[in-house]
Amino acid sequence: MCGIVGYIGKRDVAPLLLEGLQRLEYRGYDSAGIVVTSPKAAGLKMVKAKGRVRDLEAKVPARFKGTTGIAHTRWATHGAPSDLNAHPHMSADDKVAVVHNGIIDNAADLRRKLEADGVEFLSETDTEVLVHLIARSEAQKLEDKVRETLRLIEGTYGIAVMHADFPERIVVARNGSPVVLGIGEKEMFVASDIAALVAHTRQIVTLDDGEMATLKADDFRTYTTEGTRTTAEPTTVEWEAASYDMGGHDTYMHKEIHEQAEAVDRVLRGRIDDRFSTVHLGGLNLDARDARAVRRVKILGCGTSYHAGQIGAQMIEELARIPADAEPASEFRYRNAVVDPDTLYIAVSQSGETYDVLAAVQELKRKGARVLGIVNVVGSAIAREADGGMYVHAGPEVCVVSTKCFTNTCVAFALLALHLGRTRDLSVRDGKRIIEGLRKLPQQISEMLEREEDIKKLAAQYADARSMLFIGRVRGYPVAREASLKLKEVSYIHAEAYPASELKHGPLALIEPALPTVAIVPDDDLLEKNRAAMEEIKARSGQILAVAHQEQEKADHTIVVPKNEDELDPILMGIPLQLLAYHTALSLGRDIDKPRNLAKSVTVE
Ligand code: M6R
Repeated sequence: MCGIVGYIGKRDVAPLLLEGLQRLEYRGYDSAGIVVTSPKAAGLKMVKAKGRVRDLEAKVPARFKGTTGIAHTRWATHGAPSDLNAHPHMSADDKVAVVHNGIIDNAADLRRKLEADGVEFLSETDTEVLVHLIARSEAQKLEDKVRETLRLIEGTYGIAVMHADFPERIVVARNGSPVVLGIGEKEMFVASDIAALVAHTRQIVTLDDGEMATLKADDFRTYTTEGTRTTAEPTTVEWEAASYDMGGHDTYMHKEIHEQAEAVDRVLRGRIDDRFSTVHLGGLNLDARDARAVRRVKILGCGTSYHAGQIGAQMIEELARIPADAEPASEFRYRNAVVDPDTLYIAVSQSGETYDVLAAVQELKRKGARVLGIVNVVGSAIAREADGGMYVHAGPEVCVVSTKCFTNTCVAFALLALHLGRTRDLSVRDGKRIIEGLRKLPQQISEMLEREEDIKKLAAQYADARSMLFIGRVRGYPVAREASLKLKEVSYIHAEAYPASELKHGPLALIEPALPTVAIVPDDDLLEKNRAAMEEIKARSGQILAVAHQEQEKADHTIVVPKNEDELDPILMGIPLQLLAYHTALSLGRDIDKPRNLAKSVTVE
C-alpha cells in the first residue's frame, strides 16, 4: 500500500528519494510524487505522476535540486489514481506539503467545513484536509501546527510534513500506520518501511502510535502528540540492502521460493533443545505453568497468514492436544467475539502491520486476553503490541505474494506446537521424531526445488484452464486453500479449495474435463480416502494433478514430494504448488511480483 520516504541532510535529495520510492514499489501503488526544498531555496518544488516511479522520474526536471524532501507512492482509497490525487498535497500558498498513509475517517466532515470557509480543494483525497488545516494554523512552530491539526483528525495516519518557512526540518507523526526514522551521520531519513532505509543506514527508530518526531540534518527528537518528550534509542536492523535485490532471479517471487531452504534453517537456528526434545522460545514470555494453563488456542491472521494459522492449529491440536482453530482476523474483529481468559490468542502476520490483524490484537488486549505474535518484520506494530511471540526470520519478502514467509510461519507453528506439546503429554520419543523431521526440512525443500523443470512443464499444460479445483483432507485442506489462493493471486485463474470429504456434497457437479483438480494426497492414515476422492473425479472424466508422496495411479500427473513426519508434511506439500502458481503466471505473462489490485501490506481496512 502507500509508501513514504523522506530525507534531510546535505545530499541532493531527489535521486535519493526516487531510489527510496523504488524500494517501496513492492508494496503496490498507482501514482507517486515528490517535493523538495533546501535552506537556500525559495519555497517548495513538487512533481507528481500517475503510474510508476519511472513515470515520476521522467517528469522530474534536471534542476530539481534540494537537500530536504519527502516522497510518496499512493494506493488509491479516496479518489481514482491521477496526477492530482497523487501525494504530496500542497496548500494553496505552496507553503505546506504533506504525504500521508492511512485513512482520515472524518475527512468528508472537515472538507465540508473548510469549503464553507472558502478553501478550494484540488484533489478528491482525504489527505488534502491535513494540508489546509496545517496551513491555516496560527501556531508559531511547525510542530504545533501539525499537533493542532492532528487533534481534529479521526482515523489512521503515518504522515511527513514540510513547510517552506521551516526548510531545515521535517515533522512526522504516526497513528496506526508505520513510520520509521533512519539515523545517519549528519543526515536523517524517514520511511514507512525499512526497505527504503537500509541502503543508507541500519540504525532505526520506530515510532509508536501517538508519537511524533522532528527531523533535522544532525538531530532528531521524538515526543507524543501532546508534546511530552519520549525516549527513542536507535536499534540496528539485521536485514541488509542486498536482501532486497533480485539476486540474479527474474522476479522476487522466484528468488523467494528458492530462498526457502535457507530461511527454514534460520527459523530453526538456536531454538532446538535436544536434551529435553523440545525447543527454546524465550520470546513467548510464557513459562511452563502458563503453557499448561492454556485451554484453547485461537489463531488470527489474513490471507496466506490465515492459512498458515490453519496449518498451525492442526499441529497444535495434534502435538499438544489443545483445541485450536484459526479465523480470519478481518472477521473476528467485527463479531464481538467471546474472549476467554484461558485461551491463548496468536496473531499471525508477515508484515506485522496488517490493519485487520492489528485491530483484532488491540480489541483482544482491551478485553484482557493474552496475545502472542508470529511475525516476520522485527519491531512491526503487531510484534510490539503482542505480549510475546516469535519472529519467523524469513528475511525480507518483496513479492506481494507470500511464499517463504508462509513456509517459515508454518515451521514456527511446528516449533510452538512442539513446545506446548512437551509441556504436556507429548513423549520424549515423539519430541525427538518431530525434531528430526524439522531438521530434514531444509534438505527436502532443496530436493523439491530441484524438480522445478518438471513443474514448469505441468504448469504449461494447465495454464489454459479457466478455473481449477484444489482438494485436500484434514492436514491437506489448508495446503489446498493456500495453493488455490496462490494461483489466483498471481495467475488470475479462478481457483477454489474444498475439503476432499465435501466433494460429493456439491462440488462434484462441477467436474468435467475442462476443470482440472489439484489433489493433495499425503501418505498418511487418510491416503485411501483421498484415493477414493480421486476415483470419483476420474469417473466423471476430470483431470487430476496429485501432490503426493508416491505416484498416484488415478492421477493424470503426480508431483512427488519427499516424505517427512505426518504432522510436518503440509510444509513441504505447499512448495511445489508455489512453483506451479509461479510458472502458470509466467506462461500467462502476468506481473508476478505486483499482481493487479493487490498490495504487500494492507494497512487500511
Ligand atoms: O502481512 P500479512 O501476513 O499480515 O498479510 C496478510 C495478507 O494480506 C497476505 O498474506 C496476502 O494474502 C498475500 N497477498 C499473500 O500472498
